[in-house]
Amino acid sequence: MNFQLVRATGNDLPFIMATERREGYDAFVGRWDEARHREALFDDSHAYFVGVDGSVPIGFVILRQLASAERVTLVKRIAVIAPGQGHGRMLLAAAVDRVFVETDAYRLCIGLFPDNHRARRAYEAVGFTAEGISRGSAFFKGVHRDELVMAQLRPEWEDRRRVGHPVART
Ligand SMILES: CC(C)(COP(=O)(O)OP(=O)(O)OC[C@H]1O[C@@H](n2cnc3c(N)ncnc32)[C@H](O)[C@@H]1OP(=O)(O)O)[C@@H](O)C(=O)NCCC(=O)NCCS
Repeated sequence: MNFQLVRATGNDLPFIMATERREGYDAFVGRWDEARHREALFDDSHAYFVGVDGSVPIGFVILRQLASAERVTLVKRIAVIAPGQGHGRMLLAAAVDRVFVETDAYRLCIGLFPDNHRARRAYEAVGFTAEGISRGSAFFKGVHRDELVMAQLRPEWEDRRRVGHPVART
């Protein structure tokens, strides 16, 4: 695979919106309409990326508070078009590298529903640690849901990089 993580543009929104609307994803990931995406794409607090294989998009990741003064960045949303093939961890690993190489971030965190075992496994594979349950932190489809908080700190990323941790499956 000729994988690259690239900054998304408005032209990527149809792909992003189709991906977050894939069958079965509504239990795990939010979806925005085009107006909301356009607003976020061009505001100062979100950064949109698409993972491409050559020129074919395979997934997207939206970061929030990239390069913030607090040095904390959030993975707001991530999804791939074909799950369970290692694409998610490749995409996330590239986003993690981007955050720690290109900004001063100390902490990169992500919230997921505790029953999203596939996501948890992918996130652990690229260095995230489960920290605990954040009660009622997601307002999802009109319901206040708990989230599992996972995070990766800069020293942990540096350690992983030093030993050349493989992104590939273990
Ligand atoms: C979450 C997501 C980005 C992960 O990407 P992915 O490409 O599917 O993940 P990977 O293939 O890299 O890894 C998935 C791992 O979970 C495992 N897995 C799959 N289904 C599982 C399940 N039901 N329970 C436990 N593990 C599971 C896979 O075997 C794989 O682990 P392994 O390679 O060590 O065997 C992707 O699944 C996705 O887009 N999901 C829908 C949207 C979503 O949940 N987004 C995240 C919201 S926080």
